[in-house]
Amino acid sequence: GAPGPARAAANGIPFGAAIQAEYFEDTGYRDLFRRECDFVMPMNELKFALVQPERGRFDFDRADRLLDFAGANGQSARGTTFVWWSTNPPWLEAIADPVDLERALVEHIERVADHCKGRLASWDVVNEVIAHDPDENCGPLRDTFWLRRLGPRHIPIAFAAAARADPGARLVLNDYDLEFRGPRFDRRRAIVLSIVRQLQGAGIRIDAVGIQGHLYAHQAIDVEALARFGADLKAVGVALLATELDVIDFQVPGGPEEIDAAAGKVVGDFLDGLLGGQRPQTVITWGLTDRYNWVEDVMPRGDGQPCRPLPFDRELRPKPWYAELRRRL
Ligand code: XIL
Repeated sequence: GAPGPARAAANGIPFGAAIQAEYFEDTGYRDLFRRECDFVMPMNELKFALVQPERGRFDFDRADRLLDFAGANGQSARGTTFVWWSTNPPWLEAIADPVDLERALVEHIERVADHCKGRLASWDVVNEVIAHDPDENCGPLRDTFWLRRLGPRHIPIAFAAAARADPGARLVLNDYDLEFRGPRFDRRRAIVLSIVRQLQGAGIRIDAVGIQGHLYAHQAIDVEALARFGADLKAVGVALLATELDVIDFQVPGGPEEIDAAAGKVVGDFLDGLLGGQRPQTVITWGLTDRYNWVEDVMPRGDGQPCRPLPFDRELRPKPWYAELRRRL
């Protein structure tokens, strides 16, 4: 989409945020979103159980509200996700026959991708398929319902179906813990590269890797390794984007100033690593203001203070990490 007036950025890298349909009631929020974002990302509205709650019954109302909003504002949009270990409807997980399950997966991708065709710049085709802590005993892939029932081939099946269903959308493998320092993270990055090579070797299209970017205010980014990862992907013609950037601050003591300074530092390092390997297609944050965030529900601070994971605070004022973003995008 065409960048809006307040969206003139340093390097012209589009910025966006995940949003939920219910935040729309908040007009201050909506105005901020419209002003700041080039991209709209429905946070949950395109997940499997929400669009196909019963087999063959599709519900696109909530997703369409968000995609219509994006269209009306000249914003682009991106979708998540077809294959995930979470948010699958019970009917799907009850399918025991692998032939029927493959059919259900392909039908889902065809229907959903077709419904959104022309409105989404990219799709997270698979989300969080890499083993959390890969080693010799557990293998490279996460132990999920999809892996147990269909084996590793569920990944090429999903990419091939998405490529047929929406030839214009960029197809993304999306995952977390790809930016930190240490052997576990080196292994995760290597697994992503090997999946990319396997898909390409089989003639199946993969356009980009999405780095979720759920950062921790206390955990060091490996700027060099992240840049190398981006360069390695670039060498095989695969793009890079950040899809769910936020900063989890539960292990940083102190008040808002200390928390915001620590968050600004990790976001700066993350973006330096991201930009060091190749120009990212877009940077998406997992929410826009601390007023609405998912971190409070899953990783709240222990000291009773509200957490501060996003670029704008609860009063919709920009925080230091917003400046880090704008300086580089
Ligand atoms: C989260 C949403 O933010 C929540 O609202 C929902 O209840 C659960 O999912 N990694 C992902 C996202 O890939 O889809 C998750 O989103 C957050 C972690």
